[in-house]
Amino acid sequence: MLRAFLHSLVVLGLLLSTSHLRTVAAVPSLSQPSFLSIPISRQNNLPVSRADYVHGAILQQQHINTATKRLALMTGQAPPSDLELLWTIHQRISRLSTDLQRKYEFWKIAEILAFHRASSIASISHIALKTPSLSPRDAKLHNVPLAIQSNDYGYIGTFQLGTPLRDFRLLIDTGSADLWVGAEGCVADDGSGNCGKHNFLGPHSSSSYNQTKDTWAIGYVSGTVSGYLIRDTVSVAGIKLIGHLFGTAMNESSNFTPDNIPFDGLMGLGKQAISQQRVTPFLQSLYQAHLIPAPIASYRISRRADHKNDGELTIGALNPKHYDPSTLVTKPNVNKFGYWGVGVDAVHVGKKNMQWPNRTILIDTGTTLLIAPKDDVDAIHALIPGSTFDGQGWSVPCNMTTIISLTIGGRAFSIDPRDIAFAPIEYGSDICMSGIGIGGVGPFYQNTDWLAGDVFLKNVYFSTDESKDQVSIAKLKS
Ligand SMILES: *[C@@H]1O[C@H](CO)[C@@H](O)[C@H](O)[C@H]1NC(C)=O
Ligand SMILES: *[C@@H]1O[C@H](CO)[C@@H](O)[C@H](O)[C@H]1NC(C)=O
Ligand SMILES: *[C@@H]1O[C@H](CO)[C@@H](O)[C@H](O)[C@H]1NC(C)=O
Ligand SMILES: *[C@@H]1O[C@H](CO)[C@@H](O)[C@H](O)[C@H]1NC(C)=O
Repeated sequence: MLRAFLHSLVVLGLLLSTSHLRTVAAVPSLSQPSFLSIPISRQNNLPVSRADYVHGAILQQQHINTATKRLALMTGQAPPSDLELLWTIHQRISRLSTDLQRKYEFWKIAEILAFHRASSIASISHIALKTPSLSPRDAKLHNVPLAIQSNDYGYIGTFQLGTPLRDFRLLIDTGSADLWVGAEGCVADDGSGNCGKHNFLGPHSSSSYNQTKDTWAIGYVSGTVSGYLIRDTVSVAGIKLIGHLFGTAMNESSNFTPDNIPFDGLMGLGKQAISQQRVTPFLQSLYQAHLIPAPIASYRISRRADHKNDGELTIGALNPKHYDPSTLVTKPNVNKFGYWGVGVDAVHVGKKNMQWPNRTILIDTGTTLLIAPKDDVDAIHALIPGSTFDGQGWSVPCNMTTIISLTIGGRAFSIDPRDIAFAPIEYGSDICMSGIGIGGVGPFYQNTDWLAGDVFLKNVYFSTDESKDQVSIAKLKS
């Protein structure tokens, strides 16, 4: 099952500091619902020391690999195997200095690959191989840190669950549709015991908790989250949904359990079609209960470089506070697999029109970078002065000024160059890893599909409407 493979999600890389969140009640009256807004905050997790710094080439590849799995999922294709992805990391490390190769235990990765018939992986890059998955043991064997550093990724909002209502921090994800939090008594799959210092839901903490006999499971890259479907109250921005059916996790993979994972569960705001719990998602349930006027989710996500953490999720409508209405474009969703995509009419790099009339972008807050096929990525960087290619990915001067814009619905949406200059390639370097990565999946890979993650989405106000199956994008109000 394709979906069972699921999102390697950004989640896997999130090992961060705790954020301080607060719920703001912008509460509409029940008879006249307008919209609900809650702050969403990004994770700031730049490594503090030179020793902890992950080389930009590896970081970029990790993000590309995560994105490639999501792209496969979102385009109905077989995802690349873990080994194939490990091979890309292997190749990246092979280009680094011997010291760095030692730091990332290059030889161990090589050993794993050799063990799993690496030769067949090397020869085919665009076709998903029938290679075995990495065992969790293999995955832990090597010392490549997961992508725990970057400027902006992982957007978290606070919701209230149970009776009495208690705060739960949930990772907001447009690329999945399931809600889950840890259950009381949850255990970690690596045998490390409980599920960490998080908030849990269960009969001891909630008098309205009602467990069903149905189980659910969602597979992640190196583990599975599973548990029972339950009914309980879910509240957001002061609105209560009583008896909502969702999941509590009895078993969590060790990616979610560490104390420093700054969220207690996931809030998938994707379409019902992609619910793996096969239940009515939260947004649809709010809509069906007439608590919001439309199953719309609108996002303003923030940027560390702006020295603000003022993101907002709005449920039920677009929040006029955040966008310039004269710039609003609304386009039909072009994705047929339950995700969100829009057509792009033109791409400009600096003043140059790239003459690409038929690209599409898949919109995904759970992806960090902007991912496009190699020819497109190469052509873009050829127009960024000072950019260099290492054989797998591009780097750019951190102070680059080239403006890249995507024209959607006749309106150009430009990307702040600070988002392209994603992170210094080495600690303190003035060369940055590019936020535009080369990625794609085959064999039916359309060379016109881009995956637009936060690198693009930070620059716009955007909104998805499940009933009308359309996406709206506008310039942010400054
Ligand atoms: C739990 O749900 C079942 C089935 O909907 C219902 O019969 C039962 O009364 C509920 N129990 C509580 C404590 O709400
Ligand atoms: C939790 O994991 C254990 C051990 O793998 C398994 O026996 C159990 O069925 C799982 N529970 C749920 C609810 O998935
Ligand atoms: C998209 O445009 C390119 C030119 O940039 C062209 O080569 C390609 O055939 C077009 N694809 C489709 C599906 O129209
Ligand atoms: C960018 O930085 C480089 C060196 O780090 C410097 O030489 C160059 O003048 C800077 N360019 C701009 C536009 O600031």
